Amino acid sequence: MNKLLLHRHVACAGFGSTIKNMITAPEGRLAGLKQKIESREARIGIVGMGYVGLPLALLYSSQRFQVTGFDIEPRKVATLNSGGSYIVRILPSEIQEAQKAGFRATSDYAEIEQMDAVIICVPTPLNEYHEPDLSYITETVKSIAPHLRKDHLIVLESTTYPGTTEEVVVPLLEAGNKHGLKVAHAPGEAGVYVAFSPEREDPGNETVARHDIPKVMGGCNAESTELAATLYGSIFHRVVPVSSPAVAEMTKLLENIYRCVNIALVNELKQLCMKMGIDINEVIDAAKTKPFGFQAFYPGPGLGGHCIPIDPFYLSWKAQQFDFRTRFIELAGEINTAMPHFVLEQLTSGLNEQRKALKGSKVLVLGVAYKRDIDDLRESPSLTIIELLREKGAVVAYNDPYFPTVGRGRHYDLNMTNTPLDNLGQYDAAVIVTDHSDYDYKAIVEQSQLVVDTRNATKGINSPKIVRC
Ligand SMILES: NC(=O)c1ccc[n+]([C@@H]2O[C@H](COP(=O)([O-])OP(=O)(O)OC[C@H]3O[C@@H](n4cnc5c(N)ncnc54)[C@H](O)[C@@H]3O)[C@@H](O)[C@H]2O)c1
Repeated sequence: MNKLLLHRHVACAGFGSTIKNMITAPEGRLAGLKQKIESREARIGIVGMGYVGLPLALLYSSQRFQVTGFDIEPRKVATLNSGGSYIVRILPSEIQEAQKAGFRATSDYAEIEQMDAVIICVPTPLNEYHEPDLSYITETVKSIAPHLRKDHLIVLESTTYPGTTEEVVVPLLEAGNKHGLKVAHAPGEAGVYVAFSPEREDPGNETVARHDIPKVMGGCNAESTELAATLYGSIFHRVVPVSSPAVAEMTKLLENIYRCVNIALVNELKQLCMKMGIDINEVIDAAKTKPFGFQAFYPGPGLGGHCIPIDPFYLSWKAQQFDFRTRFIELAGEINTAMPHFVLEQLTSGLNEQRKALKGSKVLVLGVAYKRDIDDLRESPSLTIIELLREKGAVVAYNDPYFPTVGRGRHYDLNMTNTPLDNLGQYDAAVIVTDHSDYDYKAIVEQSQLVVDTRNATKGINSPKIVRC
């Protein structure tokens, strides 16, 4: 029997602890790399200095590893090397602290040769046909391949469909390296060690420290899994080895699909509850008192962020290869993407009650970030709502303490500037799309003519001016 299977789901407790007894004690070179990691002599390269890669780099630096961050954006490399930060929740002082431990950034892939372990955290969006766009991964892997060394450990963290590591990453690594190196596949085989370990970052979540989020990993062979477990076990409190990269890839997708489907469920039930005169939020609060079998999800204006609106469709796409339809994913996608339209309907009928048309009305959108208290607007429902409002002839402004301007992205071109909250009475309606904690909701309701609340942010405030949806 495969030794790794015997030890599947091993939870290795102890911060910085050695991952012991997972599989047979490794020999020679494998033991050398393990020892280098455990003694903090291993050099770690992290590719993609974004929302996932940069915090990870800081976490390794804080545990005395020498970290090099790779990014193709010269602006990010220059900012980091000058001790600055471009992510609001990461302070420049944290970058400077990491620099003292040897952290620096570069765009030069030749430096990969000096690394012992390389972790890839590049974007995995959908293309215009709603299909996986793996170009960031393939470009990264092609850039790494010429600089591979025997015994390199390469870990992919970008969320993707099951099979990516073994079907896409491994062949590119093997084809692109100049020494004819092979990826270790068979048990006990040496070569380049490759694994997948999904990122489980929850931006803005202050309740769980990153090193307390268990880290799942699956390697191309047992030794690769063990090395990856050693690498992550040095900074995460708990590692969860699984039997293959595909299992680890699917684990991440299951987690995100679970959220996507449950959010769609409450979004649909919210619409029914509104017709029945029942407050869905009160229902959820009551249901979540059940100590088993129920987890609370909350309705909202639609999905946002780089994960939940995108990742499930990576699996739908892959499923087609197996002549299989992922109906839950499709239905959830249908319901969730319709939510911005539902918000517009509610706003239109709220204005109608006040004998106003949406066309020509002045509308203030509160919050463009995709969720509370973060500076990330990727796939944010606010962007869709602003575009829909403009299409209908409304005069739109926005306020968001995290975004002085909103320019152009992959799917939008808004060219807007943040509006101060000093004269709310001038707007025909304020639409709360993101419930930032900095907002004074009582004052917003008092000063506005009409408030459309998509997040239950005005809970406890009684006013006929509020439309809750
Ligand atoms: N943001 C999250 O909350 C989150 C959570 C879990 C998983 N993920 C996953 O992690 C991955 C990364 O997401 P992110 O939010 O950090 O993305 P991001 O856009 O914030 O960062 C990606 C970085 O990669 C860089 N990059 C792109 N191509 C590159 C290349 N060829 N070489 C070097 N650098 C390159 C970009 O310049 C950017 O700085 C995605 O697959 C995402 O689905 C994200």
